[in-house]
Amino acid sequence: MQAIYKNMNFLKEIQRRRTFGIISHPDAGKTTLTEKLLLFGGAIQEAGAVKSNKIKKGATSDFMEIERQRGISVATSVLAFEYSGIKINILDTPGHKDFAEDTYRTLTAVDSVIVVIDVAKGVEEQTEKLVEVCRMRHIPMIVFINKLDREGKDAFDLLDEVEQKLGLTVTPLSFPIGMGYAFKGIYNLWKKNINLFSGDSRKNIEDTIEISDLNVKELDNLVGETAANTLREELELVEGVYPKFDKELYLKGELQPVFFGSALNNFGVKELLDCFINMAPTPRAKQSEERLVKPDEKDFSGFVFKIHANMDPNHRDRLAFVKIVSGQFKRNTPYLHVRNNKKMKFSSPNAFFAEKKEIVDISYPGDIVGLHDTGNFKIGDTLTEGEIINYKGIPSFSPEHFRYINNADPLKSKQLYKGLDQLMDEGVAQLFTLELNGRKVIGTVGALQYEVIQYRLEHEYGAKCTYENLNIHKACWVECKDKKNAEFKEFTQVKQRFLAKDKRGQLVFFADSAFSLQMTEQKYPSIKFHYVSDF
Ligand code: G4P
Repeated sequence: MQAIYKNMNFLKEIQRRRTFGIISHPDAGKTTLTEKLLLFGGAIQEAGAVKSNKIKKGATSDFMEIERQRGISVATSVLAFEYSGIKINILDTPGHKDFAEDTYRTLTAVDSVIVVIDVAKGVEEQTEKLVEVCRMRHIPMIVFINKLDREGKDAFDLLDEVEQKLGLTVTPLSFPIGMGYAFKGIYNLWKKNINLFSGDSRKNIEDTIEISDLNVKELDNLVGETAANTLREELELVEGVYPKFDKELYLKGELQPVFFGSALNNFGVKELLDCFINMAPTPRAKQSEERLVKPDEKDFSGFVFKIHANMDPNHRDRLAFVKIVSGQFKRNTPYLHVRNNKKMKFSSPNAFFAEKKEIVDISYPGDIVGLHDTGNFKIGDTLTEGEIINYKGIPSFSPEHFRYINNADPLKSKQLYKGLDQLMDEGVAQLFTLELNGRKVIGTVGALQYEVIQYRLEHEYGAKCTYENLNIHKACWVECKDKKNAEFKEFTQVKQRFLAKDKRGQLVFFADSAFSLQMTEQKYPSIKFHYVSDF
């Protein structure tokens, strides 16, 4: 049992932190919502201040665009602000599918998420994938259905779609009164009041009208008789069909409250934020390989979930993003880098405020600190005050694209390997080495990464590379309890051409089709094939 630190200030600091991510399919309104949340926190003064980190269509061959995006994504990696005495940390998750793995990793550092869905488009592909990861991790989720100022799907149909496609159990906490041209406003089931929509985002957003009894005539006067009657019927249906909101179930990831609104019009956002700070979890305990670590433990511990190379070519150091799990992180204090078994001190840890970073002396559980790194960190590394703790939960997923990488400038092979090594530590892609001939294969989630790697190798490391296509369906991590048995031996002989090692030296099988994978699984039943590196 670890010592719990009974310092009131420390406990208060933990209690007032909410660290979360906003996930969505591109264009659903994540950037707009983030911006409106920051406006509430007074962290920014005007709309348009948060730069979108979207990779614009057709930007795949525009490297300056990629560099520009990288710059923005450093700036928006963590957006922190204060609201009603609560310290809110929003962790940015890239929406572009080629950077999905970045998002998966960020999800290991959030305590909850808000899922944004476009009312007209409903549940889209990227949302499905990301929500699945959150569901597996039992991350508490709030759903925000956006763009109610536009014509979209019927609210009940959408709720059904969310339940079916995302496998969630929902309960609306706000409900729209009409939509598109007929959008009149939102009834807040939580506070029992109405917020009328005027289409003017500058309107005083605190203006709500209390309607605790839906049968009052005032409702008809406010929204018209037809809309009032429809609302009464719909809310009756809501009550009959959906479970009552239960905070405990939400915190366990078993019930997801739903809000409706229009981020662009700053409508329904305050309701969302007010409920969010009320119900969203404070920093949660985290499972390590050794034990469960609680935030209120005295000793500091944290883990690296993201590494970002410096944009300034004169300073080729990197910024490692560390989520604090327990204790307090202090400047200039020696901490143990568990994997390297080395003590390290940090003289200028960065904390993030809105879009700025500042040197900070002390940070608390839930916070993210950015540490300058000259190549010591890998994603997943743990820092502690001395205890051996290895945080679980940053597995590699099977890439979707595979290419051989060749050195195009034999005089620069050292630079090439150093560059590749560092880019892989950053988690840009995965490197495999074929067992048969030692050739290097790069696996990525999206095709865009190959251009990023080629560009960065050349501009940051002075190395040149070319690629050759490799037709592989999936990379599967191989598990076999008894590696001495005849079946395993036969497998490694027969399939030698398709075997490789990942960066950690784990054995990987390259299946060239779903069919061949199925055949291999049938032929070697004592061997297990996993799409994820941790099993
Ligand atoms: P993303 O980060 O999830 O990719 O989405 P983003 O916020 O960039 O929003 C995508 C588009 O949807 C933007 O329009 C944005 O203005 C619009 N949008 C966001 N919320 C609402 C809403 O509540 N109602 C309506 N009608 N539109 C909304 P765009 O034309 O692509 O970009 P921009 O030129 O306006 O920046």
